[in-house]
Amino acid sequence: MKRYFDKDFWWGAATSGPQSEGRFNKKHANMFDYWYEVEPDAFFDNVGPDVTSNFYNSYKDDIALMKSIGLNSVRTSIQWSRLIDDLELGTLNQDAVDFYNDVIDEFIKNDIKPIINLHHFDLPVELYHKYGGWESKKVVDMYVLFAKQCFKLFGDRVKDWFTHNEPIVVVEGEYLHEFHYPKLVDGKKAVQVAYNLNLSSAKAIKEFRSLGLDKDGGRIGIILNLTPTYPSSNESKDLEAAEFAELFNNRLFLDTAAHGEFPAKLVEILRKDNVLWESTDSELKIIKENTIDVLGVNYYHPNRVKAPDVSPNSVGAWLPDRYYDEYLLPGRRMNIDRGWEIYPKALYDIAMNIKENYNNIPWFVSENGMGISNEENFMSEDGVVQDDYRIDFINEHLIYLHKGIEEGSNCFGYHLWTPIDCWSWVNAYKNRYGLISNNIHTQIKTIKKSGYWFKEVTELKCIED
Ligand code: BG6
Repeated sequence: MKRYFDKDFWWGAATSGPQSEGRFNKKHANMFDYWYEVEPDAFFDNVGPDVTSNFYNSYKDDIALMKSIGLNSVRTSIQWSRLIDDLELGTLNQDAVDFYNDVIDEFIKNDIKPIINLHHFDLPVELYHKYGGWESKKVVDMYVLFAKQCFKLFGDRVKDWFTHNEPIVVVEGEYLHEFHYPKLVDGKKAVQVAYNLNLSSAKAIKEFRSLGLDKDGGRIGIILNLTPTYPSSNESKDLEAAEFAELFNNRLFLDTAAHGEFPAKLVEILRKDNVLWESTDSELKIIKENTIDVLGVNYYHPNRVKAPDVSPNSVGAWLPDRYYDEYLLPGRRMNIDRGWEIYPKALYDIAMNIKENYNNIPWFVSENGMGISNEENFMSEDGVVQDDYRIDFINEHLIYLHKGIEEGSNCFGYHLWTPIDCWSWVNAYKNRYGLISNNIHTQIKTIKKSGYWFKEVTELKCIED
């Protein structure tokens, strides 16, 4: 069966500044630049973000390649640590202004809609060392200065803006599960950081509207990795575990961004556990009044949970994990290289959840993708990666997305992670996700089989079951 998508559907791909540009000409180091300086072997094969796919120098050729595979929209981010000269004052680095102006113009010249995200895990590290980073409301205000500069400089041409990418990953990686620098385990700080990230998003949205960009065809939202939670059984203890996981991992950001309120049940639990964030009435008013226009959803794998082995009340320092344990579904389909379950139906569940519980807000799949190691093993003699596994993966996800759209969910696009193989946090170049391969030694970029296939899909605006 053929499944057709709307003629204006966004067919695109996503990357971020720090993962594609390289460190060239940056005045400030971000959290990962710094971490790589002090602990290079924390990164796969000791490869850091210094060059990555060299977008800073090769953006014209890269954008031409993106156009050649039919992308009509591409998301990247503006690096705070590149654009801003004095972080406290929010003054500009003119080289960076010129660079981002050129990049945006080049996208537009190639009929690719530029979608801009402001923060993708890349806090300037000195703000962490001086103020505790997102733990501090002073840093929230510095981020708003950066956001305002971006809106003023590029808002005439960029119409779709996002405040953060996957903010829960900052909370988890930096403050709970030790997978990103500074690798703390501190539930109380984690909760404050989650609050501050939500506050920063609402404050940036307020600036966007006070500059009148919403009146000029502009929209602003947030990008969340909405990993749907599935309980291991229908027993009440497993259902309760799943409810908490959903509250903490998804609704902490989604409800706040879309409805302007933190989920009452989560607030009640955090208050009872004595870890609730510090907030003021005026901040909560800003959050209430500055909800998103649009939502980006990153989806890779489901989250399956069961009741924890230890009772929530009987453990030491507070961590959200005390309320649930991970559950591995027997017989699950896996992307073994990445260690993630493959479950395309979740995209349909996400579509219905947004339709039913979030006023059917306009949204798009802002990331989905399949990371594969040693992809050169799948390269044919002409250098083209024969990534049929990626084609199948995308197609299956699009089928479920299409079902959701047919049933009325307001989804307007699909972006794959990523256009050109790029560097990733910690995993560096281990997992390749691109429609275009990048040899990190020679910087030779070659369209993969999936890139040619994706081009056809964008032309036909159609997939097949
Ligand atoms: C997403 C992030 O969650 O996962 C991207 O937004 C990241 O920035 C992608 O690169 C893939 O991550 P990894 O670790 O599999 O390379």
